[in-house]
Amino acid sequence: VEWSDSERSTIASVWGKINVDEIGPQALARVLIVYPWTQRYFGAFGNLSSATHGRTVLNALDKAVKNLDNIKGTYSELSQLHCDKLNVDPDNFRLLADCLTIVVASAFGSALSPAVQATWQKFLSVVVAALSSRYF
Ligand code: HEM
Repeated sequence: VEWSDSERSTIASVWGKINVDEIGPQALARVLIVYPWTQRYFGAFGNLSSATHGRTVLNALDKAVKNLDNIKGTYSELSQLHCDKLNVDPDNFRLLADCLTIVVASAFGSALSPAVQATWQKFLSVVVAALSSRYF
């Protein structure tokens, strides 16, 4: 993947405005409500642990923001964990990415212009592909 300078600065700027403790749990809660089958992965831990995972996911995104040129390598262990150990269906990564964009859009309002949103979604699609790499 190639990133232009303006894409790099857009991603850094969106990321800098995201409150991990708020947006993370909100995005994960949305996934669990809209796509209830995702609850099965968290069943044994209950809601508290799934909100925690929302925060964990966003903290992990920080690594991708800081390693834009090697997102696949950055997430190779994490992809292995979700595939081999947790058995998470990789389609769920995309669902979570979409819910995250919706939550970010409602938090940012007009600050998330169509151009900024497109770059943000490009970033997330690279993240989703990296997390899915172990599966294919
Ligand atoms: C654990 C990241 C998506 C289910 C984790 C951990 C990280 C992480 C960093 C902790 C790993 C460790 O303890 O070493 C991500 C990222 C995602 C993502 C970056 C997408 C952008 C998902 C999705 C599901 C899921 C979509 C299920 C629907 C789990 C479960 C655990 C886990 C069940 C173990 C329990 C827990 O830590 O809460 N994930 N994850 N993850 N992930 Fe994900």
